[in-house]
Amino acid sequence: MTLHEHVQQAAAELEARAGAAPDLAIVLGSGLGEFADTLASPAVVPYGAIPHWPEAAVVGHAGKLVAGASGRRRVAALAGRVHFYEGYSMDRVTFGVRTLAMWGVKRLVLTNAAGGINTSFAEGALMVIDDHLNLFGTNPLVGPNDERFGPRFPDMSEVYSKRLRAMADEAAAGLGVTLAHGVYAGLHGPSYETPAEIRMLRTLGADAVGMSTVPEAIVARHMGLEVLGISCITNMAAGVLDRPLDHREVMETAARVKATFIGLVEGIIARVPAGGD
Ligand code: HPA
Repeated sequence: MTLHEHVQQAAAELEARAGAAPDLAIVLGSGLGEFADTLASPAVVPYGAIPHWPEAAVVGHAGKLVAGASGRRRVAALAGRVHFYEGYSMDRVTFGVRTLAMWGVKRLVLTNAAGGINTSFAEGALMVIDDHLNLFGTNPLVGPNDERFGPRFPDMSEVYSKRLRAMADEAAAGLGVTLAHGVYAGLHGPSYETPAEIRMLRTLGADAVGMSTVPEAIVARHMGLEVLGISCITNMAAGVLDRPLDHREVMETAARVKATFIGLVEGIIARVPAGGD
């Protein structure tokens, strides 16, 4: 069976369990999964119930899709994602995004925990991703191109939608919060970076660094989705502060920022038009 058929089967299962495609989908990063539990009238679909969908294994990633209402909009929230560093192929890492697009989702918010490279950032800041550096050493679109998904050479000049970024700033202003903006460098992981690598990334123009999001954003653009990216700066990157990095710190900071994060996401959703407009 082809990837296209697998994706079709998975999307048909979502339609059967959760109805027509929602107005927006959001992938929740490490420690940010709780937004899924705020949705009203939820249809909860465990990843294990969706054909071909990879199940998440890392602590802090639950593994369910929740479709429900946030205000007047319908939203699908993905609590848990799989990462390239776990050993999954790029097709597996991006399977969820392809399935959302096949289901009929037109707008995708990708969120993550990231290390802060820009020294003007503070731990706990939320950063709108203005652009990214793909430093995974590969690309999720490597291999024969299936034109049913999208073109061979997709344009990447505006991966992260200007209008959704503006909506994020408006939503933040409504909460009295200022958002950081910057470039997200996506690296393979799973080891954190060395201080020398962080200095290199800063020279390259990166403001934050993480191990997700970039493959999903590329595949989403390949399939014509409008994308927004939000990083929670859970820690300053290696060498910025004189102390080691620890996954526990990442989870603790994400937990601390949770309420602001949920408020921001709700504000963005409230500003997004219905359907694919
Ligand atoms: N580096 C890479 N990925 C991360 C970090 C980091 O400092 N923090 C959270 N995810």
